[in-house]
Amino acid sequence: MRLIFITLFASFSYAENFYKLGIGSCVDYDYPIPAWDSLEQESLNSFFFLGDNIYGDVPSGKLDSIKISYENMNERMPEWLQETEKLVIWDDHDYGLNDAGENYLYKAESQKIYNNAWKINQNDPRRTREGIYFSELKIINEKKVLFVGLDTRYFRSNLIKIGDTYKPHKNLNTTVLGPIQWDWLKKQVNKEHDILVLASSIQVLATDHRFEKWANFPHERDTLLDLLYNLDSNILIISGDRHRAGFYRKDNIYEFTSSSLNKGIFPYYETDALLIGDTYTQNNYGIIEFHGDSLQLFIKDENMNVLESLEIPLK
Ligand SMILES: [Fe+2]
Repeated sequence: MRLIFITLFASFSYAENFYKLGIGSCVDYDYPIPAWDSLEQESLNSFFFLGDNIYGDVPSGKLDSIKISYENMNERMPEWLQETEKLVIWDDHDYGLNDAGENYLYKAESQKIYNNAWKINQNDPRRTREGIYFSELKIINEKKVLFVGLDTRYFRSNLIKIGDTYKPHKNLNTTVLGPIQWDWLKKQVNKEHDILVLASSIQVLATDHRFEKWANFPHERDTLLDLLYNLDSNILIISGDRHRAGFYRKDNIYEFTSSSLNKGIFPYYETDALLIGDTYTQNNYGIIEFHGDSLQLFIKDENMNVLESLEIPLK
């Protein structure tokens, strides 16, 4: 009898220590979002929106339809998600203009709309500084987990496009984050932590595709990877944007791309030198489970079926 009690207690306390983060990107509230029903059943502790959290951009860059799209989002977001803790970065379609960067005319106004739509605290730095980057330290299973959300839009230099392909910059003065955000990031990652979850709307590790990616600014990507290599923590990058999900790895740096929640695309083939396994273009979301000795990652389709999983042992 006593033995049974101990076993039950042990499994209960294990479940209690189990932290579950949902991730996803590219969600259009003008269409059904079956993934929300699946994610409700996942019983998440929190959800990380990785950008293109609405589709409200128009070619003029004006913000009227962004405002309407956010109103639509807040009306149609299911109650369980309204009540779940949310971490949020933006990408181009919620920033206000397709593939836009530092020269986007309405970026300051767009940030105000973002702050209000996501109910960012009045004393949060995002209310007073340029850019929606943020960090948050959580204690999970007695480990310090540092969540960092990057703004890859507000300060990003213009892209070079030849035909339908973005080309890498050779000019070392071009930037993804801009000098102020870089200084801030260096300070954040030097805070004591065991696990770093670094959110970037665009992919960091992938190099082989023709779309937006850190590799279009190779010197900036190198700086970021050098910064991460110098840490002795466990490092997981999370990203969106691609309407394609996959796991990537470069040495001790992992990347989990989750996209899109309800704008899946034709399943054309894509691979990458740093890809682990396959990529998936159907509607999907990501699950990251924080266990005592590992992270368990799952790419799931909108009906909760596991498409691929990955275990990252913790140092
Ligand atoms: Fe998107």
